[in-house]
Amino acid sequence: MNDTMIDPIADPVAHSLELVVEKCGDPTDLVYKRLFADAPELEPLFLLDKDGSARGNMLSQILECFLDFSNNGNYAASMISCERTNHEHIGVPHDVFDSFFATIIDTFKDILGADWTPEIDKAWTSLIRDLNISVAGKA
Ligand code: HEM
Repeated sequence: MNDTMIDPIADPVAHSLELVVEKCGDPTDLVYKRLFADAPELEPLFLLDKDGSARGNMLSQILECFLDFSNNGNYAASMISCERTNHEHIGVPHDVFDSFFATIIDTFKDILGADWTPEIDKAWTSLIRDLNISVAGKA
């Protein structure tokens, strides 16, 4: 039992994010630790981000995009499409976006353990699938 404010049935994505924060606070360090373990070549891109604030801002913008899209919002796909172009200039290829999204979800799955329910898993799978279709439509 927890004090969740979000309806887990109506909004499993937001509910899972709330559970992540309840369990571990800010997940930023865990997400990037996993990213750099899976793709060590990406770590040097963040050398100028001495205090980790760019990493934190980036993750929080990505999560806001996920929440926007899962609530039928209309900015996430355009923003991700723009960021794909912007990030090309700092050496981030398009396909890294897909693997970073997978890294974020795998990190959350690990944090939640048994609380990562089939409903939450299904909601994230559809979210990423539909978001990618929408982003491709903006290209
Ligand atoms: C939806 C996807 C993404 C969004 C919305 C996004 C957004 C952002 C934003 C807003 C910043 C500036 C942060 C700040 O200076 O406060 C940033 C910087 C950066 N992003 Fe992303 N990003 C995305 C995906 C990625 C991916 C997949 C990578 C590769 C791992 C990446 C690598 C970087 C790097 C290297 C910086 C510069 C860090 C620095 O200033 O030293 N981004 N991103």
